[in-house]
Parts: sequence; C-alpha cells; structure tokens
Amino acid sequence: MKILVMNGPNLNMLGIREPAHYGRETYEDLLALIRRHAEETGVEVSFFQSNHEGALVDAIQQAYFDKVDGIVINPGAYTHTSVALLDAVKSVSIPTVEVHISKVEEREDFRQVSYIRLACVKTITGKGFAGYLEGMDFLKALAEGEAGDGC
Ligand code: DQA
Repeated sequence: MKILVMNGPNLNMLGIREPAHYGRETYEDLLALIRRHAEETGVEVSFFQSNHEGALVDAIQQAYFDKVDGIVINPGAYTHTSVALLDAVKSVSIPTVEVHISKVEEREDFRQVSYIRLACVKTITGKGFAGYLEGMDFLKALAEGEAGDGC
C-alpha cells in the first residue's frame, strides 16, 4: 500500500513556528516518525511539502498517476481558503485524511472552515504528530476493509 503524506505552507517551519501550537519538534522529526511507523506497519510512504497552493494541486494530481492508495494531508492555512485543493482531491478520488497538529476547533473563527474536509474520509485534529500516524492507520484499515466511522 502506497501512502503520500502532504504538508502545506509553513509546516516546514515546525519546531520554529509557534511552539505553543505546534510543539518543538521539527519537520525532519515528523518525517522520521512517519518513516518508522510506515516500516513497522508495512506501508510504502512518500512525502511532499510546499508553501504554494498550485504545487500542492500538482502533487495531488501526480498521486493519481503514481497509483497512490491514500493521502494524509495537513493543508496548513490552505485548509481554510482553498477550493482548488478540495477540487484536486475530488478529481483523483484517492481516500484522503485531513490532519491538523493543533486543535483547530478551539482556535480563531477563520480556522473553523475547512474546504478540503468535504472530500476527506476522516479529519484528525489536536493530536500533534500522532495524528499523521492515526491517519495512515485509518487509510490502511480502509484499504483492508476494516475502517469504522471517519468522524
Ligand atoms: C494547522 C492549522 C492551520 O489553521 C494553520 O494554518 C496551520 C497548521 C495545524 O496543523 O494545526 O498552518 O493545519
């Protein structure tokens, strides 16, 4: 099973940006954690991070041609603004889990909207880096026909 883990704008700044919300661990620490989990669970994982909306759309489209089985995505601020990312996920019909490190539902009003959520099989918020691993496990279970409720 092939899973693509995607991160949007400013997530390359993990460890530096707003540690009260996102912790002190870096983007490289996140990748190492995910790589280890992928090995342990027998999943093939690849990564993509960009600060640019169009580059994220391109990567979602490429996932279709690369026959990716599932996407875990933290779209960062594009969560709250991007119809293009929503349409990209709808275009490829790849099961996609939306992840947020922070508990977005307890933050500013403008973070209460998520466009991409409309095309996602599950949303995970406020679990730190562990949310990405939970998203991977959910996609694996889904592929094996064992996933429960996505909410
Ligand atoms: C975030 C939450 C977003 O509102 C914010 O713009 C981010 C990170 C999170 O992981 O909690 O960049 O997606």
